[in-house]
Amino acid sequence: METLIMSVPLSPQCASRLTAHGQGHLLRCLAGAGPDYAESLESLDPALLASLFKGEGLASPPDLTSLEPPPVVPAGANAAARAAGERALRAGQVAVVLVAGGQGTRLGSDQPKGCFPVGPVSGATLYQIHAEKVLALGRKHGKTPVFLIMTSSATDAATRDFFSEHGHFGLNPADVWFFRQGEMPAVDRQTGRILLEAPGKLFTAPDGHGGCLAALSRQGWLDKLAARGVSDLFYFQVDNPLVAIADPVFIGHHILKGSQASSKVILRRDPSEKLGVFARSRGRCHIVEYSDLPAAMGTATAADGSLLFGAGNPAIHLFSVPFLTRAAAGDSLMPYHAAVKKVPFWMEECGHVKPGTENALKFEKFMFDVLPHADPWLLVETPREDEFAPLKNAQGADSPQEVRAALSRLAARWLAAAGIRVPVDPAGHPTAPLEISPLAALEPNDLNPERLRRTDWSIPLHVGPDGNWKEPR
Ligand code: UTP
Repeated sequence: METLIMSVPLSPQCASRLTAHGQGHLLRCLAGAGPDYAESLESLDPALLASLFKGEGLASPPDLTSLEPPPVVPAGANAAARAAGERALRAGQVAVVLVAGGQGTRLGSDQPKGCFPVGPVSGATLYQIHAEKVLALGRKHGKTPVFLIMTSSATDAATRDFFSEHGHFGLNPADVWFFRQGEMPAVDRQTGRILLEAPGKLFTAPDGHGGCLAALSRQGWLDKLAARGVSDLFYFQVDNPLVAIADPVFIGHHILKGSQASSKVILRRDPSEKLGVFARSRGRCHIVEYSDLPAAMGTATAADGSLLFGAGNPAIHLFSVPFLTRAAAGDSLMPYHAAVKKVPFWMEECGHVKPGTENALKFEKFMFDVLPHADPWLLVETPREDEFAPLKNAQGADSPQEVRAALSRLAARWLAAAGIRVPVDPAGHPTAPLEISPLAALEPNDLNPERLRRTDWSIPLHVGPDGNWKEPR
């Protein structure tokens, strides 16, 4: 042992920490490994991993007997909220953060999910759609929000290259702040032993979208935002091209209430829908996994027949920056969630192994676990068809086909509101792809009905960046 430890700069304290927590196997491949491996061992917290393996410190649902349906501001126009939100946008008080560190395993693309084309006519990627919304916000309100993009080891290089290759989609590169989230090792689900990917290389995975809080704080981004006069941070996820980024009405409700954390809400389709459920417990806002809700609560209905616990989570939030700064100081309050996964690994005894069944525990933090620390907080309803169509799977539900159809239906509704009729099937769905560039309109009111009516068009139809009809690709 002594000679092995001498061959790379590993501290004796680290070696004894690992041994004490049953991770001595990691020391056995030190001899042939480089300094990176020693560094990764030094930064491990084997005590934390040991307690997570035992189930200590993992997220648990709030006391179910204390759960009540939460108050939700209904969707719809609100002139006072809009005015307050637009004022904040004009003053540059709002920044936006996109979390894009996920590995997108279900979609199965070898690129980051943000590089996936979803524009029904243009083939625009998720990154292009999000970036153009941010650019359009700047054109509309005179101040472009700072655009923070969280990447991970899995997506960082490809995401930065993609933005560079596309000229940051017209944004000023100085206002696009990339930052990388942390990593967590995975452990064998039977023994708790930390898994190696190869000799001298730990297996690690991104630490969940909740890793955003620690990364924003430890890397100094929250301080930079505060120094720039940003008071609120709009949070969204890469897979949802419908999200109304920095929606002024939502921002306005948040500001007028003095809310520390506000979330958009969509109505759950049915009790079995796999969507987090908002609930109030002892005055605080919680998201409960749909599977943790007792059946009687999950299926209970109000007088009008709607689900009593019907407020679903589309993962669209707005946080006050001082709140995030305080929450990050108590980051250990953010629990980990454990997931059972199949993880290929290397072991001294048997070399590389591709397991046939789930062999490992991965640990992730979820951003919504910060919500119970906020007071006051706020929930605002938004119609699902207007704001939620996540790209998750290669086929079936939440597939590229479904996402493109949702974008086409949204465009059809906006065009109808401007008095333009497009061909629809008996269910009212457009019969051909339709798309409105974010640079043409961020909301239906941005379309110019007069101009649209004067323009010749054919389908598939793309309302392009300059507001003119464009030929499809
Ligand atoms: P999902 O939980 O749907 O994961 O992420 P995913 O990586 O997109 O897909 P699967 O589960 O591997 O198939 C929801 C959002 O959270 C981000 C994702 O990029 C997506 O925007 N996320 C997830 C992170 O930023 N970091 C993570 O560690 C995990």
